[in-house]
Amino acid sequence: MTDQYAVVGNPIAHSKSPVIHQLFAEQTHQDLAYKTLLAPLDGFEQVVSDFFNEGGKGLNVTVPFKQNAWHYSQLLTEAAKKAGAVNTLWLNEENLLCGDNTDGVGLVTDLEINQQVLLVNKKILILGAGGAVRGVLEPIITKQPASITIANRTVSKADKLADDFADLMAIEVSNFTELNETFDIIINGTSASLQGDLPPLPDRVIGSQTICYDMMYGAEQTAFNQWAQEKGSQKQIDGLGMLVEQAAAAFHIWREVNPTTKGIIKEIRAGL
Ligand code: ATR
Repeated sequence: MTDQYAVVGNPIAHSKSPVIHQLFAEQTHQDLAYKTLLAPLDGFEQVVSDFFNEGGKGLNVTVPFKQNAWHYSQLLTEAAKKAGAVNTLWLNEENLLCGDNTDGVGLVTDLEINQQVLLVNKKILILGAGGAVRGVLEPIITKQPASITIANRTVSKADKLADDFADLMAIEVSNFTELNETFDIIINGTSASLQGDLPPLPDRVIGSQTICYDMMYGAEQTAFNQWAQEKGSQKQIDGLGMLVEQAAAAFHIWREVNPTTKGIIKEIRAGL
């Protein structure tokens, strides 16, 4: 029987994961099917348990269920433990439900491999302190940047994140307006651009060598990347590569093969 995979979310109809995983499967000659699963807001756990009871091999998890998946997992990877959220589920040999979070690895792979932007010794500014940022911090810290500053509208949330990761690295915390240095890399992990909004950042955070990365993506340049370009940053990258790379990392967990992502990122970009 063809191995079954799916992505669970609510809403889910517009997910690009089925297309991405079908492309991976064709490229690596894997016999699998990958569909979307709409879970009721109060019924995530039932959908997951039914899926695996019926022989399903692996699930991706998206909004708003990544925290549910974290609680529901019986075993967590180190990245997932710290992330407080899970986006990839599978069963191990003992039939235990395992959870990983590949978002951070996806971001780091896109930056370091696809964009050739190394994080080691860089001064990094991260905007936002919600689930998206918590999910990517551990793999970023692993790359040994010189410093990480988290700036958020609600500073207490950034303080909490810094506390939670203090065992791995001392993280600076700030509001947006009082940032007073120029950064090598700025990563936007706020959902502000969903409302076409921009965090009120001082111009000085951007220099001519600054690389800007928006975890969001779209057919048009994001509001944050547009601003970053106007301010003269060296490069602006959106989150489409991160999306494909987090999928590739999940595919590797399930199938133990590494798809080549470059052409697939292009193909998904062309369809936006
Ligand atoms: P996600 O899972 O996408 O991270 P979240 O946990 O709700 O969602 O976090 C959203 C993040 O975007 C938060 O850092 C939020 O700032 P607050 O902690 O102050 O709420 C940030 N955010 C959302 N809208 C914003 C806006 N218009 N301007 C600046 N920051 C915004």
